[in-house]
Amino acid sequence: MPSTITPEQLASVGTIGRTILDEVGKAFIGPPTVTEAILTALVARGHVLIEGNPGVAKTTLVKAFAQTLSMNFRRVQFTPDLLPSDITGTYILDMRTNTFVLREGPVFTNVLLGDEINRAPAKTQSALLEAMQEQQVTIEGETKALGSPFIVLATQNPIEQEGTYPLPEAQVDRFLIKLRMTYPDLADEKRMLQTYDKPPPPVRAVVGPGEVLKLQALAQEVFVAEELLDYVLALTQFTRSHGRVYLGASPRATLALLHACKALALLRGRDYALPDDIRQLAPLVLAHRILMTPDAELEGGTGAAVVTEALAKVGYKTPRR
Ligand SMILES: Nc1ncnc2c1ncn2[C@@H]1O[C@H](COP(=O)(O)OP(=O)(O)OP(=O)(O)O)[C@@H](O)[C@H]1O
Ligand SMILES: [Mg+2]
Repeated sequence: MPSTITPEQLASVGTIGRTILDEVGKAFIGPPTVTEAILTALVARGHVLIEGNPGVAKTTLVKAFAQTLSMNFRRVQFTPDLLPSDITGTYILDMRTNTFVLREGPVFTNVLLGDEINRAPAKTQSALLEAMQEQQVTIEGETKALGSPFIVLATQNPIEQEGTYPLPEAQVDRFLIKLRMTYPDLADEKRMLQTYDKPPPPVRAVVGPGEVLKLQALAQEVFVAEELLDYVLALTQFTRSHGRVYLGASPRATLALLHACKALALLRGRDYALPDDIRQLAPLVLAHRILMTPDAELEGGTGAAVVTEALAKVGYKTPRR
């Protein structure tokens, strides 16, 4: 067997995954695949951007997810007057010692909920995106490492809305996964109506930082066959040579898809990846990294549509045994 993960480890990961999905389900009524995607990002050491119209439970979902993690947690409501130093921190004068001491910003935590991230100007967004990319921040020339694990769960309303600043397109790929939350299906929304007046049982913490670091290390061990690497490459190649695409998926995107795929396989109780893991994750990992040509954009072409097309046209070659 090419992987060193034991059956006991796989079973324990499975229990953790299911428990987190159940706990989040106490507060958020909706498909467990949404929560699974966030969990996948956590295990793959990535960050998540959640986009959706007002009132579709973006905040409810990320808050519930954060509650399942027994770690330092900070929430920042992004507003037009938020400054970069409100994210990273600032030096203040300590009157007693007459020296400058660093007051760490909310980015010094394990789980950072950035709510309505597109309400703050680009400079402030960039401070966060940079911290996510580098796992460290530089304040007044001094570089400090961030917490470990570190995950950003950001929400935003669709960028067409007034009073919002679209995230710098070239930096949106700092998010491993971008989830689009749509309206709940009728049955789920009805269940919400039927239960809204009963306070939901509190969401319990399921894992701490040590366990998450172990999960992250374990995911690295998941076996990915060469045919699957070729499949990932073929999918991203497709986005690069597409006529309506201005900028296709980068090598960072290829790597991101591989990492996410290993994490999802592990969470699903396997020590090897399957083509289905890739098919499920490609839209979440690749779509937001694809820029359309202006013409295609005018006609309503989207990265998501290109990924759908790639999945339909690019075949997976079954290995010959
Ligand atoms: N699928 C759902 N499950 C449980 N509660 C829901 C669901 N959808 C909406 N709600 C309820 O609707 C309200 C709005 O949810 P929430 O504040 O999380 O939305 P949001 O997407 O963050 O909105 P905004 O973009 O305005 O910040 C909350 O009271 C929440 O409990
Ligand atoms: Mg909200």
